[in-house]
Amino acid sequence: MTPRTTDWWRHAAIYQVYPRSFADGNGDGIGDLAGVRSRLDYLHRLGIEAIWFSPWYLTPMADAGYDVTDFRQIDPRFGTLAEAEKLIDEAHQRNIRIIVDVVPNHVSNEHAWFLAALDAAPDSPERELFWFRDGRGESGELPPNEWQSIFGGPAWTRVPDGQWYLHLFAPEQPDLNWRNPLVRDEYEEVLRFWFDRGVDGIRVDSAAMCSKDPALPDYDHTVFPDPHPYVDLDENHDIYRGWRAVADSYPDKRALIGEVWLADPARFARYLRADELHTAFNFDFLGCGWDALALRACIDQTLAAHAGVEAPSTWVLSNHDVTRHVTRYGRPDTSTAAGIRQYNPVVDEDLGRRRARAAALLTMALPGAVYIYQGEELGLPEVENIPADRRDDPIYHRTQGKDPGRDGCRVPLPWDESTETYGFGPAGADRPWLPQPTAWAQLNAAAQESDPASMLRLYHTALALRGEEPALGDGPLTWLPAPEKVLAFTRGGGFTCVINLSEAATPLPPNSTVLVASQPLTGALLPPDTGVWLRTF
Ligand code: NOJ
Ligand code: CA
Repeated sequence: MTPRTTDWWRHAAIYQVYPRSFADGNGDGIGDLAGVRSRLDYLHRLGIEAIWFSPWYLTPMADAGYDVTDFRQIDPRFGTLAEAEKLIDEAHQRNIRIIVDVVPNHVSNEHAWFLAALDAAPDSPERELFWFRDGRGESGELPPNEWQSIFGGPAWTRVPDGQWYLHLFAPEQPDLNWRNPLVRDEYEEVLRFWFDRGVDGIRVDSAAMCSKDPALPDYDHTVFPDPHPYVDLDENHDIYRGWRAVADSYPDKRALIGEVWLADPARFARYLRADELHTAFNFDFLGCGWDALALRACIDQTLAAHAGVEAPSTWVLSNHDVTRHVTRYGRPDTSTAAGIRQYNPVVDEDLGRRRARAAALLTMALPGAVYIYQGEELGLPEVENIPADRRDDPIYHRTQGKDPGRDGCRVPLPWDESTETYGFGPAGADRPWLPQPTAWAQLNAAAQESDPASMLRLYHTALALRGEEPALGDGPLTWLPAPEKVLAFTRGGGFTCVINLSEAATPLPPNSTVLVASQPLTGALLPPDTGVWLRTF
C-alpha cells in the first residue's frame, strides 16, 4: 500500500493502542511493549497506516498513565526506552507510522516539578509552574473558587501549608501554568525528544484546556460562559503555533493531532489553521448515535468547518474514554448524543454489532483520516459488570459509581484460545488488571481471522480496499439522492457508499457492483442497518 501523499495524516487509518490492555508480553497481567511488538504483524495484516499509543511514560497510574512523572522515560510496567525505540523501528519497517500521546494540561503529582513546588514556599518560582492559590474563608479553608473536577469533586486540593492547587482532573494531576515560559520550553523539548526518536505524530491530550484565565473566576456550571475561564482560551493557539514550528523544523512530515472537545465547529476549526495543529478528533460524530439525520448533519458541518481551514476531517467511533460503540448502538434508544458514557442495562449486542459493521464502512468511506480503537475490529462490546473492587478508573471512584467510568472499554483484548487470558498474557500469567468476560472466548482475534464473516475480516477487507481506492481518504464527497434514513454518497471515481439506517430494505443504485457489504445482500436490496461500498458505472 503506497501512501497517497506525504501528508499522511490527511488520509491515514490510525489504530489506537491502549498499551495497558493490548497484549501482555511478560505475564504480569498488564499489557506492555513486548506484547505490542509481538502483535505488529497482526496490525500490519489489518491494514492500518499508523498507531497512536496512549501514554507509555513513567507514571503512578492514578489516571492510567495520563498522569506523567517523566515524559522521557517509559514506565517499567511497559518496558524500556530502548524497547520503545525498537518498536518505532519495527513499525516503520512495516510502513506503520507512530503517534505518541503528550499531556500538556497537567503532570503527575510525582513529577519533579510538583515535588519541588510542594517543598517550596507560596509565591515561589516552583509554585508558579502550577496554579497555587490561597483559599477563601476566614482561614483559607475554602477552595479558591467553585470549579469542579471533570472527574467529580472539587478541582482544588489543599497542601499542608494551607495553599490550594488546581487540578481539572484528579488530585494526582496538578494543572500546569502555561503562562510560564519554562512550561512552554519544556514541552517543546519533549516534542523534540520523541521526534528525534522517529515518532511521526503527537496526540495532544485535552488540547483546548491548557490556558486559564489567571483571575480564576467562578462561573455558573449550568451554562457555558463565553469566554469560559479555562475552555478554549485564545492563548492556546499561541502554544500550538510554537509546537507547529517544532514539527515543521523536521524535514519529513510530523503531525500534531488534537483532542479538542468543543461544541462549536467554527471554534474547533481555529485549532486547525495552517500554523497550528494538523488535525483533531471529531467527537461530535461519535456522539450522534445511530441516527441518519444527525449523522448527515454532523458530516456536513464537519466538512464545512474543516474546508474553511483546509484541514482534513477525522472520524472516530470509539476510544478509551467512551462506551464501546457496539454497546452504544445496541441500546434501544440510540438517538441522543447524551450517552457516550453511561450504564447500559438493556443492550441488543447483535443489533449493536450489525450497526457497528455498517458504521465501519461509513467512517472508512468519509473524507479524511479514520481512527480505530483497539478491539473495535473484534466487535468487542463494553464490559458492564466489572465488580466495584476491580474498577480502576478515578471517574468511577470520584463519582461514587454514578458515572460508570471507562474501565468497561479498557478490558484486555482476547487474542486466541491458548491461555486462561485468551492469549492476552502467556500461559500461567497473572490475572489481567481488569477481568475479561468469558463470552470473549468466542471473540478472539485468531478465531476471527479464520472466519470470513467476522468483524475482523470486514475490517481487513475494508481497510485494504480503502488503501487501494484513490478516491478514498482526503478529497470531495457528494451526497446522492436517497430514501429517508439512508445515507448515500459518492467519492468520485465510481465509488459509492450507501448506509441504510432505516427499518426497510432499500434498493441499491442501478449499474453498480458490490465491493464490500457489511451483511450478506439478497438481490439488489440493502437490508436495514447495513452498509455497502459499490463501484458504479
Ligand atoms: C483525555 C484522555 O483521553 C483521558 O483518558 C484522560 O483521563 C484525560 N484527558 C486527562 O488527561
Ligand atoms: Ca506485562
